Amino acid sequence: MKFILDLNKAWEKRVKRDEALASYTYFKIGGPADYFVIVKTSQELKEIILLAETAKIPWIILGGGSNILVGDLGFRGLVIKNEAESMVVSNGTLTAESGVKMAKLAAFANENGLAGLEVFMSVPGTLGGAIFNNSHFRPEKGEFIGDLVESAEILLINRGIYRNLEEFKSEIRTVDRDWFRFGYDYSRLQDEPGVILKVKFKLKKTDPGKLKKRSMELLKERNSRQPLGQSSCGCMFKNPENLSAGQLIDNAGMKGKKVGRAMVSDKHANFVINTGGAKASEVLELMNLIKETVKNKSGVELEPEIFMVGEF
Ligand code: EPU
Repeated sequence: MKFILDLNKAWEKRVKRDEALASYTYFKIGGPADYFVIVKTSQELKEIILLAETAKIPWIILGGGSNILVGDLGFRGLVIKNEAESMVVSNGTLTAESGVKMAKLAAFANENGLAGLEVFMSVPGTLGGAIFNNSHFRPEKGEFIGDLVESAEILLINRGIYRNLEEFKSEIRTVDRDWFRFGYDYSRLQDEPGVILKVKFKLKKTDPGKLKKRSMELLKERNSRQPLGQSSCGCMFKNPENLSAGQLIDNAGMKGKKVGRAMVSDKHANFVINTGGAKASEVLELMNLIKETVKNKSGVELEPEIFMVGEF
């Protein structure tokens, strides 16, 4: 079903129709969105969401496109690419808009000598996506983005397609860290219709040189173990408690296994690579094969870390 979005003149110029999503994702996979727009400020983000809500059309926010698999048939509704990325430091706190890339955020914190975010230099995606999923660097070392959050400005939505209410309500609220109920790959935003506009971090003052050095070391280390230059969407499966998904997939003999043009990386088995023109359906089939093979070999049930978006 196609949805109709009525736009005022200003938005009409900016909203594209039937825009292929592949080029906006790390995987380089995904069909067209009925409507697609890039926003540059959190004010614009809020405005376009409220327009879509009023028109009762489904919408999603695309951050960096690093942790998602978009279906071959694309998305029915509006896809909003969030590029709101202003950042400011004052009195030891850093406030950033949700569309900033994690690498840019880490670099900014490093320059200002604020410690904590330096480990996220090599983590793909945007701040909003990182908060949505409580992104981690090394989960076993407790390096979760959620732990660094002091508060956030969010747009709460209470209506229609998300809540089956006739009346449309929205509210901007400042919430503290506890509101998010952060867990492994989890925040409350996965279950409630809210949008992160800005995030405030409380960080310790440290020497900028030390932070930059640490970021570079970790980037190099990650590069040596993971196929960062290739089209993938990072780790496909969550690490089961006290186990490594990569190791389990490797031990099941899956490195280099292919379905169509989707392939299990030779370098790190928890990465699926798009070797060129892979379909979402091929990635899904390969994921199922990985799950089944690991289950047979070690009895462990792997759970996807990535999110599926749109129609397959
Ligand atoms: N291993 C293998 N074969 C492989 C891959 C890994 O035997 O093909 C072994 C390694 O030798 C190591 C163990 O598995 O002993 C763990 O591997 P690694 O240190 O590479 O870390 P990981 O647990 O696979 C996690 C995150 C990564 C993050 C790294 C940072 C998850 C699911 N993965 O990987 O996150 O970059 O730590 O060190 O939490 C992501 O979330 O997208 C992601 C890539």
